[in-house]
Amino acid sequence: MNKNAAWQTILVTGGAGYIGSHVVLQLVEAGERVVVLDDLSTGFREAVIGAELIVGNVGDRVLVAKTLREHGVDTVMHFAARTIVPESVADPLRYYGNNTCATRNLLECCRDAGVRHIVFSSTAAVYGIPEGGRASETTPTAPINPYGSSKLMSEWMLRDLAAAGGPCYVALRYFNVAGCDPSGRIGQSTKNATLLVKVACEAALGKRGHLSIFGTDYATPDGTGVRDYIHVDDLARAHLDALRYLRDGGASTTLNCGYGHGYSVREVLAAVGRAHGTPVPFVEEPRRAGDPPSLIAVSDRIRGTLGWQPRHDDLDFIARTALAWERKLAPVRHSGA
Ligand code: UD1
Repeated sequence: MNKNAAWQTILVTGGAGYIGSHVVLQLVEAGERVVVLDDLSTGFREAVIGAELIVGNVGDRVLVAKTLREHGVDTVMHFAARTIVPESVADPLRYYGNNTCATRNLLECCRDAGVRHIVFSSTAAVYGIPEGGRASETTPTAPINPYGSSKLMSEWMLRDLAAAGGPCYVALRYFNVAGCDPSGRIGQSTKNATLLVKVACEAALGKRGHLSIFGTDYATPDGTGVRDYIHVDDLARAHLDALRYLRDGGASTTLNCGYGHGYSVREVLAAVGRAHGTPVPFVEEPRRAGDPPSLIAVSDRIRGTLGWQPRHDDLDFIARTALAWERKLAPVRHSGA
């Protein structure tokens, strides 16, 4: 992929985290030169395969400027962020600081260093509660939690900076990312995870006593929340497609990353149960703060613009790869649930 750009380096912030590490692996496999900046607050050193890891924070202007300069960085893929919706409701300033302010700092350094391309990790949470539970890129943005707002503000900065002659960008709005590297090399190792598929795998393997279903009275087919679950391997490939698009001179754009159909919490539990061979133990609880009832992507634009073609649009495959990784991890039993 990088045949015309032997000198170009890609800086991946948050590259030791769940999604970032999967992207790093694909970039390295494609022959790209990659350097990772991660403060290891939620990421893992061992998840960075085939790339140099610099331990530090995106908010550290001196470190970011030095890294861009010394590595000849041409493209930045920016994943470093806090991403847990209920945590953002409880501690909004942490999200505005860690996500929005740190991104502003990074963008300033990128502008000053002449970085040409940025691929930004945004979120479906910018849509809030879209009408009919579906969102296309033209759906009005109306976040209902600080996490979504913190990412939307970063999108605005990217847009305005590009209009002022700054880097071209692709902002990818992720829907619900799940599953792990199909080859089993890396996965989701987050401690105290909150993501449904991971929590369900932990419950299946007895690392938790049960899973709590948050809300059974939504206006959805079975009363539980509906999301568009996308395999992390397909999501990672979208970043490489975005890179190719930008290098080919593509204009700045914002794209949904989802398959275009949704599953309920109960359907996800059933899939993990099938992968494990026994039902996942659960209890029913009230709704969780900040959760929309349904969030599904209209994903025509990413397919048309980048030529992105998903390979793992299969909830059972997502469950199997997530469970396989969970089995590999140490058998830590969480307190509480
Ligand atoms: C996830 C992402 C968020 C992204 C959003 C897009 C993370 C940590 N979260 O949030 O960044 O913006 O997708 O849609 O990456 N649920 C339970 N029990 C549980 C956990 C979850 O019932 O123990 C339910 C939730 O109420 C929700 C669904 O499962 O209906 C998915 O929740 P979760 O996996 O936490 O993801 P989101 O909150 O949608």
